[in-house]
Amino acid sequence: MNNHIPEACIVLFGATGDLAHRKLYPALFQLYQKQKLNEKFAVIGVGRKEFSHEKFQEDVKLSISKEKNIQNDKVDEFISHFYFLQMDVTNEKSYQDLKGLADELDSKYSLGGNRMYYLAMAPQFFGTIPSFLKSEGLTETEGWQRLVIEKPFGHDLQSATELNEQLQKSFPEESIYRIDHYLGKEMVQNIQVIRFGNAIFESIWNNKYISSVQITSSETLGVEDRASYYEKSGAILDMLQNHMLQMAMMVAMEPPGGLDPKLIRDEKVKVLRALRFYNEDEVAKNVIRGQYKEGTMNGKTVPAYVDEENVDPASKTDTFVAARVFIDNFRWAGVPFYLRTGKRMATKATEIVVQFKNGPMALYHEHDDHYQPNLLRIHIQPDEGLSLSLNAKPQGDFPALLPINMSYCNNCHNELNSPEAYEKLMHDCLLGNSTYFTRWDEVALSWEFIDGITNAWRNGNVPLYKYSSGTMGPLEAEELLNEDGYTWWPPTNLRTDLRTDRDEK
Ligand code: BG6
Repeated sequence: MNNHIPEACIVLFGATGDLAHRKLYPALFQLYQKQKLNEKFAVIGVGRKEFSHEKFQEDVKLSISKEKNIQNDKVDEFISHFYFLQMDVTNEKSYQDLKGLADELDSKYSLGGNRMYYLAMAPQFFGTIPSFLKSEGLTETEGWQRLVIEKPFGHDLQSATELNEQLQKSFPEESIYRIDHYLGKEMVQNIQVIRFGNAIFESIWNNKYISSVQITSSETLGVEDRASYYEKSGAILDMLQNHMLQMAMMVAMEPPGGLDPKLIRDEKVKVLRALRFYNEDEVAKNVIRGQYKEGTMNGKTVPAYVDEENVDPASKTDTFVAARVFIDNFRWAGVPFYLRTGKRMATKATEIVVQFKNGPMALYHEHDDHYQPNLLRIHIQPDEGLSLSLNAKPQGDFPALLPINMSYCNNCHNELNSPEAYEKLMHDCLLGNSTYFTRWDEVALSWEFIDGITNAWRNGNVPLYKYSSGTMGPLEAEELLNEDGYTWWPPTNLRTDLRTDRDEK
């Protein structure tokens, strides 16, 4: 446990935006009330609107007030650390105003020249802002400077490489903190502890004992008001390229030689190096894409994706993707990893299911319909925890065997809510711990893999399957597993009657 309390001036680009309000201000406040931040911090909110410091502080207060577990007596003191600067980020001259204010706050709060520059805004500015920070002298202070950058980091390998080259002219790789908020989730971080802290798991964590791995991240929300972004990204760039592959890496990585961020990230990237990249034919066989159509959710009819605001009525954007991937190394050779994610599905849940092989001699399972393979489920959200299904003989004579479940709930045993991903990630960045941020080599490899899929899709030979809103996606995604003798395990919070849907192609 690191007890050091960081001191820094946090410069937040996109201060009036949605992410800042929903996630970043509440996250900073949690750090403050948990005394992981003390009085030695200041936030400069940068935005295009004309705001006074007071109006900005009121806005921040409002966003915090929506949170649970708030110590009200700390709020006014907290928001007094917030300052607003109206800025045109494409105009280099305005960076002098920023420098002036940052220097002033630096001495007012004794911040030692430490700066966190957080880019919570549209990606077209990701290259521009760091260049100006450098050229206008904001990256030369006596303390540390870190750049936090939200996704999307490019939209393919080429654009990501160009962006990266641009960033590296202003910030070295070790100062760039690329956010993947799934890596800030309590149970995603816990995968490492569950695996490497328990000899009983690690010794069977390989292709001798594991038959397949499923990772599902389903959402009930539709595209909401984000069509202008989502039309270009689809589920594959929005979720698979980042969150889903990151979870797969956590499940598949080799034990690191220690807990140093470099060692952990080195092991993660090796997983991507072993990932089987697909040609066009293989994409058609291994990746299913879908798009939601009208359906019923919670008793209400919800519109098809193509009828959502600002969506092209002829849109071919994927709102669902399921993929069978292979990691060609000694540990995982022959073990399929099934990844699926989508919007407007039957439930909001993220779950990893590790399915174990059956024992070598069929004493029970060939004679008993109740037999179920051993499953280790890692519940990422909404429940956080772990469950292991086993088979046991119930009391009495019949049936001879029944699946039973042993479970551990990570967020049930105390009054505390798990810290939000952003709280953990901002804290890590302030402390200079880059373990749960994505390194450039990971990002580059994940784009290379994804580009193979999106290129095949663009060439038009891979169908887009429609699924009704409120289901678990197109039936073709189920068939993908059936080919291998498997079936998707429904997320724990889902009734089994809502699983898949077949529809026109
Ligand atoms: C974001 C995507 O990265 O993750 C969103 O852009 C998605 O489309 C979100 O809804 C899901 O995150 P969570 O934490 O709600 O599972």
